[in-house]
Amino acid sequence: MPKRQLVEKILALKAERDAIILAHNYQPPEIQDVADRLGDSLDLSRFAASASEKVIVFCGVHFMAETAAVLSPEKTIILPEPTAGCPMADMMCAEDLVALKMKHPGSVVVTYVNSTAEVKAETDFCCTSANALRVVQAVPEGKTIIFGPDKYLGGWVTEQTGRKMILWQGYCPTHQKIHPEHIQEQRRIHPGAVVMVHPEVNPAITSLADVVLGTGGMIAYVEKSSVREFVVGTETGMIHRLQKKFPDREFFAATKHALCPNMKKIALEKVAQSLESLGPVIGVEPGIAERARRALRAMLEIS
Ligand code: 13P
Ligand code: SF4
Repeated sequence: MPKRQLVEKILALKAERDAIILAHNYQPPEIQDVADRLGDSLDLSRFAASASEKVIVFCGVHFMAETAAVLSPEKTIILPEPTAGCPMADMMCAEDLVALKMKHPGSVVVTYVNSTAEVKAETDFCCTSANALRVVQAVPEGKTIIFGPDKYLGGWVTEQTGRKMILWQGYCPTHQKIHPEHIQEQRRIHPGAVVMVHPEVNPAITSLADVVLGTGGMIAYVEKSSVREFVVGTETGMIHRLQKKFPDREFFAATKHALCPNMKKIALEKVAQSLESLGPVIGVEPGIAERARRALRAMLEIS
């Protein structure tokens, strides 16, 4: 079906089903363009919790749809491609976390939202890239903090807050595709540009950047800045988001190889199909959801 017809079909089905389409900033351009709401992990979880529609089509990866399902158990949460997972989230399992907590009685667990609902259920505070510093700072001094799954986000938070933490050894394979030479090369080509990188990159990259920000933070930074050119060290979907929002500025990907294959599994055909069949539905076992919700609400209260 031609793209225009597909988009029309999605818009008609959306109204019929009382649905809303949420999309993460890393989604393919055509998905970003059809979404009702685009955002980072924090924006989207807040929005999912307050949306009045009965159905949420979540264009992102599994943990994002699962977070929406935990926060809005009364709504139908659909992930158009159920195999769109996050390899970093899969690097941490609840059993291993429970074992680590037993080794450190009295510790406080801060978990990146890029995690499974089972891991969140064993967590005291969730965090996203937008609020990780605030959340860790809210933990009383003297408490042992277990942070996971992202060792690079955790390392950056340690550097910024001075809080020592036990770090899980997970990482994002997509952000590891950004190498120091990419940043050096982009600086050489665009000497006046501000270099913005996501805290999921490794420290060899953050040390070369001008600012370290989550995807929502990047948008807010550009909004306030008078600079015209930006090098963007994160998943490449972010370039479409920024370029569309700020047509008078120029954005350059640190490398076009930083592409999250899972984020790119969502396509217009799958969105149309999922609105038609009202599936695949993402659900969370109520006992797990209740405990995971506590950790997410603890985060939402801080931010
Ligand atoms: P943001 O919360 O900054 O959008 O990041 C989500 C993510 O998956 C980064 O890889
Ligand atoms: Fe997970 Fe990395 Fe993809 Fe984000 S970019 S969803 S952290 S694999």
